[in-house]
Amino acid sequence: MPYDSIAASIADQRRKTYFDEAERHRQAQSLRASSVPMRQSLTRNAMVRIRPIRPSDTDLLLKTFDRLSMESRTFRFLFPKLRLSASELRYFTEVDHHDHEALVAVHRFDNSGLGIARFVRHRNNPLAADVAVTVIDEWHGRGLGTRLVTRLMERARCEGVAHFTAMIASDNSRARALLHSVGHASRFLGYDEGVAEYEIPLGPGTSRAASPRFPRLLRAPCSCT
Ligand SMILES: CC(C)(COP(=O)(O)OP(=O)(O)OC[C@H]1O[C@@H](n2cnc3c(N)ncnc32)[C@H](O)[C@@H]1OP(=O)(O)O)[C@@H](O)C(=O)NCCC(=O)NCCS
Repeated sequence: MPYDSIAASIADQRRKTYFDEAERHRQAQSLRASSVPMRQSLTRNAMVRIRPIRPSDTDLLLKTFDRLSMESRTFRFLFPKLRLSASELRYFTEVDHHDHEALVAVHRFDNSGLGIARFVRHRNNPLAADVAVTVIDEWHGRGLGTRLVTRLMERARCEGVAHFTAMIASDNSRARALLHSVGHASRFLGYDEGVAEYEIPLGPGTSRAASPRFPRLLRAPCSCT
């Protein structure tokens, strides 16, 4: 069999697996939606505040990191990360809110950190940004990851980002599920050493980024004006 046909058949098989998974996810989602009491999720939503990260959030970040299981850390950093260094803490908290944005979810009662979502714009493509999200383990499955990413997508559109890219370990089914639920047309780009890369179009945005550098489509009004 010529090389091109083999490659095409592998790509076909991957696409099929991807769509099968999406379908399984949709079915699981509708099952869960019918079994989660509405009042419970409303109460949980009300307990969380989402805001941009600040330079003074280093302690919050450290404590949130401490509350992540090793599995969550490995999924987030793609290796079993043991600690955050001082320079990483500075990098993660001192963001410019344009090329690099991070939103933190904090508990309204005690201000403890529950999750973080961030994007970092690609150096070689200002319309694209890499996205990452983490929620502390005891809050998994309550919709917080989805809320954080949805808010971050809105922020990103406001800053002229047209699509996110995401690197997800191939055994990270929760992150894949999240991606399916927020990205209407997310695209599988490829695998490398156990990590899958996806592209998530953000749709039309943004006013702040309105400049001749950005296509007209991206200059529709957005919520951050
Ligand atoms: C990925 C992650 C952020 C999801 O956060 P979360 O708050 O649990 O996400 P949500 O509750 O919004 O659920 C998102 C989807 O994940 C799925 N999901 C969540 N918990 C799940 C579980 N325990 N089992 C199976 N699926 C699960 C749900 O299908 C949900 O989709 P839906 O909204 O369409 O129902 C969280 O698992 C995490 O922090 N993981 C470690 C870090 C990581 O993997 N980051 C992603 C790579 S950067």
